[in-house]
Amino acid sequence: MIDNFKRKIEYVRLSLTDKCNFRCNYCMSEDVEFLPENEILNLKEIENLIKILKELGFKKIRLTGGEPTLRSDIIDIAKIIKKYFGSFSLTTNGSLMLLLAKKLKENGLNDVNFSLDSLNRNTFKEITKRDDLQNVLSGLEESLKVGLKVKINTVIQKKNLSEIFDLINFSAKRKIPIRFIELMPIGNNYSENDFISENTLKKLVKEKYNLIPIKTTFGSGPSKYYLIKELNAYIGFIAAITHNFCSLCNKIRISSDGKIYPCLAFDYNISIKNIIFKEDVLKEKIKLAILKKPKRHFLHEFKKETPMHKMGG
Ligand code: GTP
Ligand code: 5AD
Ligand code: SF4
Repeated sequence: MIDNFKRKIEYVRLSLTDKCNFRCNYCMSEDVEFLPENEILNLKEIENLIKILKELGFKKIRLTGGEPTLRSDIIDIAKIIKKYFGSFSLTTNGSLMLLLAKKLKENGLNDVNFSLDSLNRNTFKEITKRDDLQNVLSGLEESLKVGLKVKINTVIQKKNLSEIFDLINFSAKRKIPIRFIELMPIGNNYSENDFISENTLKKLVKEKYNLIPIKTTFGSGPSKYYLIKELNAYIGFIAAITHNFCSLCNKIRISSDGKIYPCLAFDYNISIKNIIFKEDVLKEKIKLAILKKPKRHFLHEFKKETPMHKMGG
C-alpha cells in the first residue's frame, strides 16, 4: 500500500505485550504501570489480524514489545505467522532466547535483533536494572547455534560510550552486524546530557577503522550500514534524531492492545480491538492508518507521551 507521500508501506511491527522483565533507563521506570490483561490482544484476535495483514499485501512482520518473548503463547503466535507469512522477525532483550531460540526457529523465526547495550556486567545492570548479562549472551549464542540471523542493537549513551570497540569486536567475531541507535526522547527519564550523535560516534570509530558505506540493508529498518575494512565487519547507525530517515519509512506499528500507530513519534492512533473480527471495517481502518502517516517526525523538538514499550519499539 502507498501512503500520501508515495512511500510503500509493507512492514508491520506488532507489539505482543507492553510488559518487560528489564527496566532500561531510557525506556521504563521500576514503577511503570502496565496495561490490564483484558485489553491485550488474545491469540484469536492476533490470528485474524495477521490474516488480514496478509490479505492487504503486507510483506513483513516483526514482533516487538515490551519484551515479546514474555508472552506465554509466543510459539502459537509464531505458528500463526508462519502459516500466513512463512516467516517473521523478532526484536528482543534476549533474556529468554536460550529457552526459545530453537522452538521459534522451527516455527518461522528468520532473524532476531538483540538489544545489548553493554558487555560489562555492572554497566549492563546499571542500564537494564537486572543482573542478566550472562543469560542474554547465552541466548545470543544459542540463536546463532540454531541458525538464526542475528543483529545487535546498542542504544548509545554516555554510560556505554567507552564500550563501543568491545561491542564492535564482539559482533565482528561472531560475524553479526551491530547497529548503534541514537537515544530518542521517548519513554523514561530522557536527558539531553546522555545523547551521543551518529557523527560523534562515527568520528570515534573512524579514528581507529576505515568505514566504507555499503548498500546492503540486512533487513527492512532504517539503519545505514558500513563495512569496517580491517575487521571485515558490519556496523550500522540508526540516527533518528540527527539524520532523519522518514522519507524511507515503510511501516506501521500495532500495539499489544490493538492500536495502530502510523508513526512512532506521534501519540495519534486508531484502535482496532473492538472491530478486529469485522474484516471489512478492519481493512478500512488499516488503510486509514496508512493515509494518516505524517511526512516526518519532530522528535528533536518535543518529547512525546506514549512510551515506546506501549506502542511497540
Ligand atoms: P531490521 O532492519 O529489519 O533489522 O529492522 P529494524 O532495525 O527496524 O528493527 P529493530 O526493532 O531492531 O529497531 C531498531 C531501532 O530502530 C529501534 O530503536 C526502533 O525503534 C528504531 N526504529 C525503527 N524504525 C523507526 C522509525 O521509523 N522511526 C524511528 N524514530 N525509529 C525507528
Ligand atoms: N531511544 C532509542 N532506542 C530505544 N529503544 C527503546 N527505547 C529507546 C529510546 N528511547 C530501543 C531498544 C531496542 C529497540 C526495540 O528500541 O533498545 O533495541
Ligand atoms: Fe525492556 Fe526493551 Fe524497554 Fe529495555 S528497552 S526495558 S529491554 S522494552
